[in-house]
Amino acid sequence: MDKKDAISTESNTAKKQKNTFSGNVGYILAVAGSAVGLGNIWRFPYLAAKYGGGIFLLVYLILMLTFGYAMIISETAIGRMTGKSPVGAFSAFGSKKWLKFGGGINAVVPMLILPYYSVIGGWVVRYVAEYLRGNAAEAAEDEFFGSFISNSFVAEICFVVFVFAAFLVIIAGVKNGIEAVSKVVMPMLVILAVITAVYSVTRPGALEGVKYFLVPNFRDFSIMTVVAAMGQMFYSLSLAMGILITYGSYLKKESDIEQNTTRVEWFDTGIAILAGLMIIPAVFAFTGGDIKTLKAGPSLMFITLPKVFDSMGLGNIIGNVFFLMVLFAALTSAISLFETCTATIAEELGFSRVVSSLIVLCVSLILGTASVFGYGIWSFVRIFGMQILDFFDFLTNSVMMPVSAFFVCILIIRVIGFDGVAKEVKLSSKFRRQPMYYIVTKYIAPFFLMIILASSIASALGFITI
Ligand code: TRP
Repeated sequence: MDKKDAISTESNTAKKQKNTFSGNVGYILAVAGSAVGLGNIWRFPYLAAKYGGGIFLLVYLILMLTFGYAMIISETAIGRMTGKSPVGAFSAFGSKKWLKFGGGINAVVPMLILPYYSVIGGWVVRYVAEYLRGNAAEAAEDEFFGSFISNSFVAEICFVVFVFAAFLVIIAGVKNGIEAVSKVVMPMLVILAVITAVYSVTRPGALEGVKYFLVPNFRDFSIMTVVAAMGQMFYSLSLAMGILITYGSYLKKESDIEQNTTRVEWFDTGIAILAGLMIIPAVFAFTGGDIKTLKAGPSLMFITLPKVFDSMGLGNIIGNVFFLMVLFAALTSAISLFETCTATIAEELGFSRVVSSLIVLCVSLILGTASVFGYGIWSFVRIFGMQILDFFDFLTNSVMMPVSAFFVCILIIRVIGFDGVAKEVKLSSKFRRQPMYYIVTKYIAPFFLMIILASSIASALGFITI
């Protein structure tokens, strides 16, 4: 028996029955719960608006169907083959230094994302609170968002509320409850997003925005379009940070990896496109496509949507329902980030679950507070020209993710081998896109990932302007 066979047999016995997903639906929901979050509703539209609209969307779709597809397959197969979460999965193939590093970086990224993710979660908490108090008109005012985030005290409270909510769920372990609620809330979120998107798109002047978002204009293309689209794809699909390795390790051998991958990808992208259709045409309808608004960055959703809701006449109700759902989607994602960090610390450092989750809580509070202050009392701080929150976002998505994805590719090329992956995937699916998978993983991905990394660093150091 060779090494790979030994690993997969060992993992079968090691995998406890209670730790496998009950079926495809459970798995897809869990992966979708982690994938669909602020990345789709908040991050995708602002990046699309900033980096060229239609051309961004086109690049994103191409990357998702080639790269994204290959990365999901790889991670899921590695997880199912070894039955372990990232650090364990990498070291299942030996004790070389680069394997340790590869597993390690996959585990560190979520710990850096969780804090600033929770800061934005906190912004959503504030909006929910405002709508509950019937303040739809105030929330729609131009100055509202800016003065909120520059008030560090209020923003900090909202952030702490969000982190504690995630922490309590982790401590209570009410995973089943969350899954049950997801089944109801996720479809509701889709319906509400469709209604809002239709409303947005049909406002006078909005059609220009639809065109900007859907029709590629090659003049808007730049290398940063690719860098941003790539980072976003990793972010949105929760790639390159061990999530899918962990979830893959819970997946039954009968589950069709290829089909599940396709479903998750389209669900995730569908929500992102809907969010784009809610927000970008609204920017055109309310500001006439003002470049400054389009490039507003992280604040775009918080500034535009309240105006849409207010003009609908039913601002309080719709705004309430909408932000509550965004809050829920953000919480499910934050919980899965929290969970990965906790599990890694417990496994690697040998602490109990409670102690591990307390460590994650403390790190999140410290780094998150820095991000909150970065928009308020520390707004003079700039790291490579970026505010603290933007810096964490850039560091994780544009710098660390390509590195960790690179190690996944190398693990496959050098150690597991394409046959090893194909054997695992083919246990339960036809693997129709195998030739594409092979070409992308072997020839395109490693090279491309390095280019992405180099241009991110160059842009941070000011050699390329974004
Ligand atoms: N995919 C999530 C979103 O779109 C964010 C995210 C990135 C995430 N990496 C993750 C969530 C890892 C859970 C686990 O909002």
